[in-house]
Parts: sequence; structure tokens; C-alpha cells
Amino acid sequence: MNAAVTIGRTTFANPVLVASGTFEFGLKFPSVANRLGGVVTKAITMQARVGNPPPRICEFPGGILNSVGLENPGVEKFCTEIVPRTAKLKSRVVVNVAGFTVEEYGELAARLDSESVDALEVNVSCPNVKEGGALFGQQPQVVEAITALVRKETTKTIIIKLTANFVDPVETAKAAEAAGADGVTLINTLFGLALDENGRPFLGGRSGGVSGPALKPFALFCVDRVAAAVKIPIVGCGGIMNGQDALDFLSAGARMVQVGTASLVNPEAALEVWTGLKEYSARNRLTGWEQLVGRTRRHGGGESKSDVRS
Ligand code: SIN
Repeated sequence: MNAAVTIGRTTFANPVLVASGTFEFGLKFPSVANRLGGVVTKAITMQARVGNPPPRICEFPGGILNSVGLENPGVEKFCTEIVPRTAKLKSRVVVNVAGFTVEEYGELAARLDSESVDALEVNVSCPNVKEGGALFGQQPQVVEAITALVRKETTKTIIIKLTANFVDPVETAKAAEAAGADGVTLINTLFGLALDENGRPFLGGRSGGVSGPALKPFALFCVDRVAAAVKIPIVGCGGIMNGQDALDFLSAGARMVQVGTASLVNPEAALEVWTGLKEYSARNRLTGWEQLVGRTRRHGGGESKSDVRS
């Protein structure tokens, strides 16, 4: 079976990516990165950022909370020092970009347009910053404005990474689609709070973003709902730990998946996810991913009984 997946102008050799912030720039483990569909980089902002004070990670039985705060070298240093190295990777490089104003997203897209990277993942969903991030992603009209501006500034594939924090991602996915996005990533981490034994916030940034297995059922629910509402491809993300999890996201309607928290525990996790998908497709003699993508709805059952806006 041809395992390739195309989103916008970008063809990925297979549907498995590593999620932003969990694999740096793919340079530490090139033998893993080279066998995946691609690497989504740590978020890049206009200016370099030191990020939030420590501690930045807190484990809990269902996953982790992170409060990194978009630490990164800034777009100039990224372009001059990191892109020449990521360009040597055999898989696709998707640059996650985050702005603090709508205009900054346009500036980031313009700066990266001539660089040797394959696609942009537009981050309107970081839960760990006071401006931009999830605050933007909660407002469909802001998502639409950012997407339209990025679309204007770049010919590269653009995938909007959405939040499901206090917003219906159906509305923001529709806004992204209307403004020219090639795809959406669903979902970024959910707001969370961890306390120490004295009842004080554990994380240096106070609150954080929840990721890992605890996120999966809700992320799957979001993918299933959004897949019924938009035509652009969905990249599923949230608690994917193995091939079966990835299969679930494809069944719910995602065309590609991202492995995040699992990569922090085991840098080869995304490869294992890809092996699991490959083995399933061989066992079941699949001829194309379209046999899997969205099959949950083809099995019937229609709308969820939960009281959600539609
Ligand atoms: C962070 O850097 O705080 C996480 C980035 C994100 O969730 O988008």
C-alpha cells in the first residue's frame, strides 16, 4: 500500500509525525525522524524566549502537565542555525509558529516562506502564555484573521493547531477552513493545575497544559465532531501512545497523527506507532488509508447523544 499522505502542497511519506515541543527539531534522533512522515518543530516566535520558570513538567497518573512557555531561539536564529540542519532530514519539516499579535503570525509566515521547510503549523492554542496562544484560538474570528494573514504571506502548506479549551473546535476549524487553511491539528493540551503538598501551584507558570493518555478520549471526540464539519484534513493529536491509538484517530476522521508525550518517555515511540499502523494495514490488506479514515461514522451511530452545540 502507498502509505503517503498529502496535505496542501506537502506529501508526507507516512501519516505519523512527532508533535511540537516533544522532539525539539528532530536533530537529536535523526534515525527516528527520517523514518516518520515528518517532524513538527518546537514553537518558533519572532523573538527568542526563555520560557516559564521551573518546574515546567509535572507527572500525574494519566499523563503530564507542561508549562514551558514557548522557550525557543527566535525565528532569525532558527532560520540561520537550525534550518540548514533540519533541511538534511529525509522526512518533512513542519515549523510550529506562535505569535503574540495577529500581525506577528504574518511576519513569521513571511520570514519562513523562502526557507527550506515544508509546512507551517500555526499555533493558536498554547495554554501557557498570557497573550496570544489559546486566547486567540478561543475566538473563531481571530483564528480566521490569523489564517487569512498567514495564507497571504506564504505559499507553504498551513495547518492550524487548534485548542479545545473553553471553545467548540468545530467553530474554529470552520473559521480556519474558510480562511484558506490546508488542514487543522486537533487538539493541543488542555488547561490544568497541579498543586504541591501545601496547596501551592506546583508549576512555575502556575497552570499548565495536560497531555498524555488522559487526553485521548476527549481529543478523539473532538476529531470525530470536527471531521463531520470540515473538508480539510485533520491531524489528530492527544494521548497517542501506540498503533491502536493512532488507528482510533484515523477511524475518527484524522488523516495524520502526532505522537507527543509518548516521545518524551521513549524517543522511538512514534516509530513504534508507525510500525503498529503498518502491521495493521498489512494484516488487513488495506489498499489505502481512506479505508480507515472516518470509518467510525461509516459504521453509523450518527450524532453524539451528549448535549454539545452543533
Ligand atoms: C509551551 O511551550 O508552553 C507549550 C506549547 C504549546 O502547548 O503550544
